[in-house]
Amino acid sequence: MNARRTRGRPPTPIITQPGRQRPADALVLFGATGDLAKRKLFPALYHMEDRGELDVPIVGVARSDWTDSDFRDNAIAAIEASFPPAQPGRKKSGPKASVLKRLSRRLDLVQGDYADVTTWAALKSTLDEHGSKTAVYYMAIPPSMFPTVVESLASVGLNDRGRIVVEKPFGRDLASAHELNNVLHAVFPENHIFRIDHYLGKESVEDLLVFRFSNALLEPVWNRRYVRSVQITMSETIGVEGRGSFYDSVGAIRDVFQNHLLQVVSLLAMEPPVGHEASYLQDEKAKVLAATTALDCSTLVRGQYEGYRLEPGVAPKSKVETFAAAKLEIDSWRWAGVPWYVRVGKGLAQAATEAVVELQSPPRMLFDEAGGPAPERNLIRLRLGKRDGVTFHLQAKTPGPHLDSESVDVSVDFAATLGDRREAYERLIGDALVGSPRRFAREDTVEQMWRIVDPALSERSPAFPYPIGSWGPKEADSILENGDSWFAPSV
Ligand code: BG6
Repeated sequence: MNARRTRGRPPTPIITQPGRQRPADALVLFGATGDLAKRKLFPALYHMEDRGELDVPIVGVARSDWTDSDFRDNAIAAIEASFPPAQPGRKKSGPKASVLKRLSRRLDLVQGDYADVTTWAALKSTLDEHGSKTAVYYMAIPPSMFPTVVESLASVGLNDRGRIVVEKPFGRDLASAHELNNVLHAVFPENHIFRIDHYLGKESVEDLLVFRFSNALLEPVWNRRYVRSVQITMSETIGVEGRGSFYDSVGAIRDVFQNHLLQVVSLLAMEPPVGHEASYLQDEKAKVLAATTALDCSTLVRGQYEGYRLEPGVAPKSKVETFAAAKLEIDSWRWAGVPWYVRVGKGLAQAATEAVVELQSPPRMLFDEAGGPAPERNLIRLRLGKRDGVTFHLQAKTPGPHLDSESVDVSVDFAATLGDRREAYERLIGDALVGSPRRFAREDTVEQMWRIVDPALSERSPAFPYPIGSWGPKEADSILENGDSWFAPSV
C-alpha cells in the first residue's frame, strides 16, 4: 500500500531557521583540490548554482601547483564525473554548459603552503578584493591540518571575518575532540563553528524529527512501555574503495558509529525540543546522549571483511574493524530497560540505513483460531538510505472463515510521494552560507558521542572475519537478548 500526499493546512514547523547569522559573502575552500571537494563539494555547488542559490565568490586554497584555470578545469571535470554514466539506449545526462560557465567565473585559487605566512596574506588580499566581510572557511582537509589553518586564519585577522566549517572526523577520541574544541574556541566563538556530519544534512534523517513530533499517533507509544527494542542498521555493500590508508587509521566505530549512527540514535530517542531555536534541538540531543551509557565491551562485536587486509593502504596484519555491532542503553525515564541494537559495516549483504522500532506484543493474542504461527509484533521501519520512507508492519484479519491475523505492510516512499530530496552537502553548504547552525553538531554533543564510544576504541577485542556479502560475523547475534534476531533491512 502506498500513501498519497495530502495537502491542507501547512504543517507546523518543528525547528525553523533559528540563531541565524549574517549571510556569507565568500566561500573559502581549504582542500579545494582534494577528494571531498571532487566527490561532494563541487557537484553540490553546481546544483546550487543551477538553482540560483549561489551568489558568492569561491576561493580555493590548495598546495597543488595549479593555476586558476587548472582549478576551474578540475572542478568542471569533477562535476561531469558526478553525473550518472550513459545507459544503453539513453543519452548520458550531463551538466549544463551555462551553469558550468557561471560557476567557473566564481572560482579563484590561492595556491600555497599552509605553513607559509604569504599564503595567508594572499588569501586575505583575495578576500579584500572581493570586498568580503563575512566568509565561510570550509576545512575539507586532513584533520592534522585543522590547527594550522585555524591559527593561521587568526594570524591575519580572518577569524573575525567569518565562520568555520569543520569536516569529520572531529578528533580520534574524547581527549582529542576536546583538544580540537579548545583549538577552535581559542579563535572562533562556538556559534561560528559549524561541525559537519553529513547525516544531519540528509532529508531522511531530518525527517525523523518531523515524523516523531508531527504525528500524534506515535508519541504515546514512543517509550519503554510500548517499545520492546530498537535496531539501527547502517550497512554498505562497498569496501574501503581506495581509502584504505585513511580507513585503516580509523575503523568503523570512528568512521560512522561515533557520528552518523549516534546522531540517528539521538534524533530517535530525544525529547521534543521546547521551541524553534537551533539551541533547543541541540539541548535535547545533548540530554539524551548524556543519558546513554558508554559502550560495554561485553556487548560489542567487531568484525573485518575477508580480503580487507589486501586492500591498498591497509596493514597486512590489520585488526581494524570494518563492522561493529553493539547494544546501547539509554538510562532515561523514557527508555530505561529498552535495548538499542546498532550495527554498521562495509562489505555487507545490502546497502541500507534503517531504524526498526519494535513494539511490544498486545497483552493477549486473540486471533489464532486456525492455530497458525503467533502474530508478529508491530514494527515501524524508518528507511534513511536511498529509498527513504517508512513502513508500518501491522496485523490484519486473514481472509476466510477463521479469526486469524496476518502481517501487512503499510509503506510510504518519500521521494515518490513528496518529490526528490536534495543532497546533504547542498543543504549543508547552503546552511553554512546563510549562517544557520541547525544541521551542525554542537561541541557538547560531539564530546558526548566520543564518551559513548571511547571504551570501544581502546578495546583489544578480536575483529571476527566475515565473508563479503554477508551480514557480518555470526558473533554479532550474541549481543541480542530474549531470543531476538537482527531484522534484515526492507529495501
Ligand atoms: C562517510 C564515511 O562519513 O559516510 C564513509 O567516511 C561512508 O566510510 C559514508 O561510506 C556513508 O555515507 P552515506 O551517505 O553513503 O550513507
